[in-house]
Amino acid sequence: MIDETLDPERETAKISPLDPGSVEVVENAGGKLVPLDPIGAEVHGIDLSSESPPSPEVVDALEREMARRGFLVFKSDTQVSPEDFLRASAWWGGKELHSTHGVHPATPGGNKHIFRLSNDPRHGIPGVGPQWHNDGSFNTDTFSHAGYHIVRPAEKGGGTYFAHQGAAFDALPAARQEFWRRLSSVNSASGVVHPAVHEHPVSRCESIWLHLGMTGAVIEKLRDGDGFRLLNAEELKQLCHEYNDILDAGLNNGYAIAYEYRAHDCIFIDNLAVAHRASAEAHLPAEQQGLRIMHRSTVRGVDEFRPHHGLPLHLDIRGPSPLGAGVWQAGGIGFRWDDGIPMQN
Ligand SMILES: [Fe+2]
Repeated sequence: MIDETLDPERETAKISPLDPGSVEVVENAGGKLVPLDPIGAEVHGIDLSSESPPSPEVVDALEREMARRGFLVFKSDTQVSPEDFLRASAWWGGKELHSTHGVHPATPGGNKHIFRLSNDPRHGIPGVGPQWHNDGSFNTDTFSHAGYHIVRPAEKGGGTYFAHQGAAFDALPAARQEFWRRLSSVNSASGVVHPAVHEHPVSRCESIWLHLGMTGAVIEKLRDGDGFRLLNAEELKQLCHEYNDILDAGLNNGYAIAYEYRAHDCIFIDNLAVAHRASAEAHLPAEQQGLRIMHRSTVRGVDEFRPHHGLPLHLDIRGPSPLGAGVWQAGGIGFRWDDGIPMQN
C-alpha cells in the first residue's frame, strides 16, 4: 500500500546529526558520543555504576540526543548491576520509575521495577512486543523513556528494531500526513486516547504514533464540521498496515535500525521519539538461538500525552461505542489487523 503512495522525493527522511554542543558537554565529562547509522548513538565513558548521577548539563545533553536520534547505547566492559541500571533509568524524563508489569519469578530480588524478558520461560517472560509499539501506551502519560539492559545476549543474535517516528512521519505523502493528523487512537486495555501525530516535546519533530498490539479503536476528526467517526475494520486494517510499512521502510530509507545487542549494553530510548519491536530472532527458542535475557525499565512520563481536537484523555472502551459504527474493541491485544502475525504485549 505504501509503495503505491510514497512520494519518491520524500523517501529519505532526515535524521539530525549529533549536536556539537552535546558532544562537547559529554566529552568535557570524560565521555564520548559515537553516532550509530542511521539512528541512535553509543555512549562511552559514562559510568552507570557511579553513585552520583552526571551533572544536570550532561543529563540534558544525553536526553536531547535521545530525543533527536531516538536512543543511546551505554557501552560497558563489565556487567551492569540491576540496581545501577534502575538508578540510571531515573536520570531521564519524569525522573522516577513507573512500573506496571508482572514480575517474573527469576527477577533478581523480586524487584518490581524490572520487567524480565527471555526466550526461555524459566528465565523471563517470552514473546513480548513482536509488533511496532511504544511502551506504556495504556497510561495517559505513557512512559517518557524506557531502558533495555541485555543481561545475556543470545549467541546467535536476537535484537530490537527501532524506528524514528519523526522521520517516518516525514516519509508519508502530504495527503496521508493530513489524514493522520486528524486521527487519535484508543487503547484497548485502558481506553486512554492518544494522538496519532504529535509534536515531540524536545526535538519538536512532528511524529507519527500508533500501537500495533494494543489499539482498540481509531477516531477520525472529520474535515468538514465538528464531528468524529470511528474507522471501520477495513480502514483500520489498512491504517495499521500503513504504519507497519512506513516504519519498516525506515530500515532501507535511513530512519530505522535493527540493533543487535553486545554484552553489557544498556539502551535508553526516548519513548516518544522511537517505536520499537522485537526481532523475530529474539523470540526463537533458547535451544536454537542461545539463551537471551533482558531487563526492561520504564520511566514516568513528564506530561499527559493528550489527544488533539478536543477529545478526552480517556473513553470507556469497555462500554458501547460513543461514536456509532466502526471498530470499538476492548481487551487484550485489541484490533487484530493481520491474522498471520504474532501479537503480544
Ligand atoms: Fe516494548
